[in-house]
Formats: sequence, C-alpha cells, structure tokens
Amino acid sequence: MSEQTKAPLSLETTFCGIRLQSPFILSSGPGNFASEGMIRATEMGCGAVVTKTIRLQRAINPVRHIGKISETTLINAEKWADSDRQLWYEKEIPEAVKAGAVVIGSVGHTLAEAKAIVADVERSGAQMIELVSYTEDTLLPMLDYAKSHVSVPVLCKLSGNWANAAETAAKCIEHGADGIAAIDSIGPVLSIDLENRRPQMFSDDGFGWMSGAAIKPISLRINAQMQLSGRVNKDVYGIGGVMNARDAMEYLMVGCKAVGICSVAILKGLPYVQKMIQELAQLLPQLGFSSLDEAVGAALPNFPKHELVTGLDFAYDSARCSRCERCVRACPYGARTLDFPQMHVDSALCRSCGICADLCARGALKSVILPQTSRDVADAAESTAFYDTVASLNQGGLV
Ligand SMILES: Cc1cc2nc3c(=O)[nH]c(=O)nc-3n(C[C@H](O)[C@H](O)[C@H](O)COP(=O)(O)O)c2cc1C
Repeated sequence: MSEQTKAPLSLETTFCGIRLQSPFILSSGPGNFASEGMIRATEMGCGAVVTKTIRLQRAINPVRHIGKISETTLINAEKWADSDRQLWYEKEIPEAVKAGAVVIGSVGHTLAEAKAIVADVERSGAQMIELVSYTEDTLLPMLDYAKSHVSVPVLCKLSGNWANAAETAAKCIEHGADGIAAIDSIGPVLSIDLENRRPQMFSDDGFGWMSGAAIKPISLRINAQMQLSGRVNKDVYGIGGVMNARDAMEYLMVGCKAVGICSVAILKGLPYVQKMIQELAQLLPQLGFSSLDEAVGAALPNFPKHELVTGLDFAYDSARCSRCERCVRACPYGARTLDFPQMHVDSALCRSCGICADLCARGALKSVILPQTSRDVADAAESTAFYDTVASLNQGGLV
C-alpha cells in the first residue's frame, strides 16, 4: 500500500476504562453549556465532553465575561453552569448520553455541593465525574465523599495556581481518584480595554482567568512533574492551550492519555476539532509512532538528569534560506551575519543560546548539541548516531 492509500491511524483510545472516539475532550466551559453543545462536540469527533461545572445555585455571569488577550489567549470571568442543576439531571446529561456522548459531569466547588450533587449526576447517566475546587483542602474531602457514594470513575481537576499541583495530584491518587484533569485556567489576571479606559472583564474586581496558548507551558510542566514523580499512575488528561495537533502531541509525550480543549473551540469554532483530529492522525506516523498509545510518555525518558553546559554546532542550508535575517537580528551578541549564500557565526561571540535556529521558519538553520565533557566526547565518539546527525544536517556546511 502506498503512503497515500494507507488507512489513517485510529485515534480511538480508552480513558479510565471508557472508550473515546478520539483523545480530544471538550473540557468544562461555554461549549458544554447544555446538551446541544455536548452533542455537537461529539459529532465533531470529541472523545468526551465535560459539563459546565454544576453547583447548588446557578451562576449569574458579569456582562461581559469572555475577552481576547491575543489571537490565541483568552481572559474570562465566567462562573460555573448558568442553568439549574435539576435541568442537568433531567435533560442536558441524559440527552447528550442518549445521543452517544461520553459525558463527564463536572461538580464544584465544596464538600456540601459534592454531597448534594455527585449521586444525581451519576444517576442522570454521566459516565465519569470530575471534581473541581479552589483548594486541595476542599478537593480531597469532596473526593473521599464521591468515591464512597458513586461507582463511576472520579477525576480531580487541578489548578495551575496551586504551589505544587503535582503533589496534590499524588494525594488525589492516594485518596482513590481514578484520573486527573490538569489544568484549569490561571489567574487572576488583568487586561485593560484602552478605548474605554477600564478592565476588559466586568467582574467585581475587574480581574479574570487566563486560558489558551499562554498557559500551555505551565500545564505541560505540571503534567510532566506528575508523571516524573512516579506517584500518578492513573489516567491523566492534559488541558491548557491546545491549539493544534502539535500541541496535543506535546501533552501525549509527557504522559497524558487524552487532551482537553476549551479556548480553541471558542477561537476557531467546534468544526476545527475535526481538523485537529486529522492532523494528529498524520502527525503520529510522521514522528515515527505506529499508534496513539506509543506516543504516550515518549518524551519522559529524555528529561535531563543534570544541566547541560556545552556548545552548539550549526548547519546552514542556503537553498532553504529566505534571507529574512531573523536569525541575524535575534542574536543579542551580534555573532551572526548573512552574506548570502554564506552564513557566518563568530564563535568568540556566540554563547550557544539556540534562539537563532529556533526562529528559522524554513529549517535553513539548524543546531546540533555538542558533547559536554571529555567523557561525553568519548561516549559520543563511540556513538556514530551523533556524527550521522551532524553530517545529515551539514549539507550546507557548518557555519
Ligand atoms: C470561558 C471559560 C469558561 C470555563 N468554565 C469552566 C467551568 O465551568 N469549570 C471548569 O472546571 N473549567 C472551566 N474552564 C476552564 C477550562 O475547562 C480549561 O481548563 C481551561 O480553559 C484551559 O484550557 P484551554 O487553554 O484549552 O482553554 C473555563 C474556561 C473558559 C475559557
């Protein structure tokens, strides 16, 4: 079979023992305001959907409560579900489940509310429950209660604001959590509306919560810490700034079985999920994986054991170079010059920071890490792989 005619890779997976049609989970947010949104997300390929957080009282939101910080990052002052919890039990959850959605019922934010809500959410047909709270001290008692009163898997959602969210995750596992969702939006944050000379959000203090691309590195770090601790041995879905398949792949590589999406569905619309699914199915084989499961945790063995203090070697391919000179301008030390088709780097000035090669949009400038110590040099000399890599990058010659 040729590359073109090969069947696309299946993205079907399981999470807490439940089959998901894809690893994309529409996390709790406005997209899941009611059954209508949850059904639509499922039709677009989401493997599961998380209800807006259900509480004792319905929310009344400030107007306005969602705004744009940048093209990929949002601020919001949206509270929990703005419809009555009875409606969720009697209509929204059963309708979505009947239509084939895997529904995760989000329950917040206190022990009293968990006591009043979790069993009803399970009875209404939700296949999992996700507990969300402001502090670990409240989350753990909610978890203890839920675990002894429902039989569906119980997930705990972590906040990136907590000083040691990975430690909280480990405690949740010790208390019987079946899985972890990480992370919630981060804040409080502020954005100013210049024309109206006031905060962009109409919350009581003008502050809001940040989501989207800006929070991805924070969430990835927390997700990696959880996995590297060795204490979070249950399924995890990573949330925060997944805007495309490559972002999703980063979460998979640090050990997440699935990824949550919220802001991207607002910024690009729900049909964009189909594109992300297609792109992920193509990306997996491009990166050398023959299944989704193979990618899960693939980066974990490559986390450094110690800091690397070495140098970079550069390879430059003039045929790919657009002469934009971003690499030249970015160098804080003025080490790089382009005299097309020759690229020069002054090794006395270059500190091997690596940003020049990172900024090259066309892959014309690449960097290779040099061995660190004489011991490393000896190891590398034995490893032909290292020199093969250098040689393959050096079609244009080292610069
Ligand atoms: C407008 C908005 C409303 C949200 N509402 C909830 C909510 O009710 N419950 C909850 O647990 N998380 C809520 N979230 C947080 C998201 O589920 C998610 O954790 C966060 O936005 C990070 O993902 P993202 O970067 O893909 O948006 C909300 C996020 C946004 C942007």
